[in-house]
Amino acid sequence: MEERLWGSRVKVWNKSLSRTIYSTDLLEIKNPINREFMKAIAVFPSKKEIRLIDHAVPEIVSETQVKLRMLEVGICGTDKEICHFDYGLPPNGSEYLILGHESLGEVVEVGSGVSSLKPGDLVVTMVRRPCGHPECKACQEGRQDFCYTGDFFERGIKQAHGFMAEFVVDEEKYMNFVPQELREIAVLVEPLTIAEKALTEIFQVQQRLPWGCPGISGQPHSYCHRAVVLGAGPVGILGAMTLVAAGFQTFVYSQESVPSLKSELIEAIGATYVSAQTDSVEKLAERVGQIDVVYEAAGASQVAFHTLEVLGVNGIFVFTGVPGRKGPVSVDTDLIMRDMVLKNQVLFGSVNAGKSAYQAAIRDLTMFAKKWPKAVRSLITGRFPMESFADLLAGRTGGIKNVITLES
Ligand code: BGC
Repeated sequence: MEERLWGSRVKVWNKSLSRTIYSTDLLEIKNPINREFMKAIAVFPSKKEIRLIDHAVPEIVSETQVKLRMLEVGICGTDKEICHFDYGLPPNGSEYLILGHESLGEVVEVGSGVSSLKPGDLVVTMVRRPCGHPECKACQEGRQDFCYTGDFFERGIKQAHGFMAEFVVDEEKYMNFVPQELREIAVLVEPLTIAEKALTEIFQVQQRLPWGCPGISGQPHSYCHRAVVLGAGPVGILGAMTLVAAGFQTFVYSQESVPSLKSELIEAIGATYVSAQTDSVEKLAERVGQIDVVYEAAGASQVAFHTLEVLGVNGIFVFTGVPGRKGPVSVDTDLIMRDMVLKNQVLFGSVNAGKSAYQAAIRDLTMFAKKWPKAVRSLITGRFPMESFADLLAGRTGGIKNVITLES
């Protein structure tokens, strides 16, 4: 993997010179010191350490690659779990893994075969790479988010370095162009892709109901259905925005009391906030009525399975959280199984996302920013330099979405 991403010089198109030159020459022109190393944040699982390191600046090694100067990288629960040494794997042969998978970068160089990107463009890069096994149909089709073998790579998570580094090189096909107007919030694209993939599947399942909404012609079921989001972290809030924008009457059920930054943000987007501090799951169900969709984004299995017990007829339950392994919890399996059968319920899990979800996320984030400018901006509660990594990754910095800014 490293060899594919880092290597010797190749020809690249330089916009300011309007000619093709060698990438190493370009480095000299752009950077008189010709830096060989860059700063990166890395986890050393065997030593149980997280450090700011010097790492070789990656170079373009094929015509279809693009080099990015990283601008921002978001921190999420997965990063924190990796930093608890519960998850994550360095690339083969490396002692460490460079963290970071929620990113925004600016193109600085393109290989001669790159047609859709040019220097100066903003880009969000996808996380997962195919397993490479010829029998894995999903990866062969470019849908590694459905990989069968489990041998996929994930940048910043599993056997591939991530984006918490000053420079990144990757294939054009994994990069998604982002309009300049999204510069301040585009780091939210990756967590939004989780909701976009789930929504596509919710719509696919709802096709089994061959009627529309009463009194509204030509609208999908979302316009007369009710959705509950579990958890008001970034994935939950972005999920709620996606569901509200799709027409669902949306309720967010979470720990924080009312009023709080999160409850106000949820109300500002037209959803209803229900606090777990005052309302039990049964009370939540009474308030909502028929629950058509549950979008689980809390990673708390007990609450999730309890909510599954109040899922409505023909309802869909989507798991997106990855809980840490704690002790066993008790669940009324007879009730759940009975309901799933007698109420035609569908339960599915969703991880990662394909290209189409990135495109939908970029489109929807543009729409959210117009519809709820203040709410969307207030999702990013802090921007920090690389040096603040320790507190951020240990979860000692409060807020909703914290971001590392790499621009010096
Ligand atoms: C990332 C996904 C990834 C998953 C499991 C999430 O935090 O957003 O891209 O597939 O973790 O590693």
